[in-house]
Amino acid sequence: MNLEEVDVLYTAEEIREKVKELGSKISADYEGEGLLVVGILKGAFVFMADLIREIDIPMELDFMSVSSYGASSETSGEVRIMKDLDFSIEGKNVLVVEDIVDTGLTLNYISKILKQRGCSSVKICCLLDKPSRRRSPVIPDYIGYTIPDQFVVGYGLDYAGHYRNYPAVCILKPSVYMND
Ligand code: PRP
Repeated sequence: MNLEEVDVLYTAEEIREKVKELGSKISADYEGEGLLVVGILKGAFVFMADLIREIDIPMELDFMSVSSYGASSETSGEVRIMKDLDFSIEGKNVLVVEDIVDTGLTLNYISKILKQRGCSSVKICCLLDKPSRRRSPVIPDYIGYTIPDQFVVGYGLDYAGHYRNYPAVCILKPSVYMND
């Protein structure tokens, strides 16, 4: 990690403990119910890889990839599906996994679509939640950390495609993005 560019917010050890807690809660809540974990690419893949190994009940997984909404779709909150789920979710308990919930526009849209497809339930698990930025009424069911409005990278989160490989969640120093 380049500490001239970032300040560590949560270390890899702290995240490991938090992910364990989340995995235990999820395992207890879905015990005997069946569970399909859906990761939203790309940001969620690191968190999801760790989280599913802390879930000790039978589960399946799938992924979706969605485009970031552009300026035109910001008001509607419409998100384009770039890669859809591989299988039907009818009658399943779906847990959507995200690295971060910011405005909530992405998850609001995804939750709506999934509910229309006849699943039994849709819940949301995010590592990071930035409620101060919310523009859509999304309330995650499982939250790792609630954070203020800071530019975070690492543990799957990027800035211009970089930093996803950092094992810690870090705050990007303004000197990095001010220069771009
Ligand atoms: C991030 C994150 C969520 C979305 C949250 O993805 O992974 O999907 O933004 O923002 P919102 O609550 O304001 O909708 P991003 O578009 O950066 O793509 P990535 O996952 O490929 O990095």
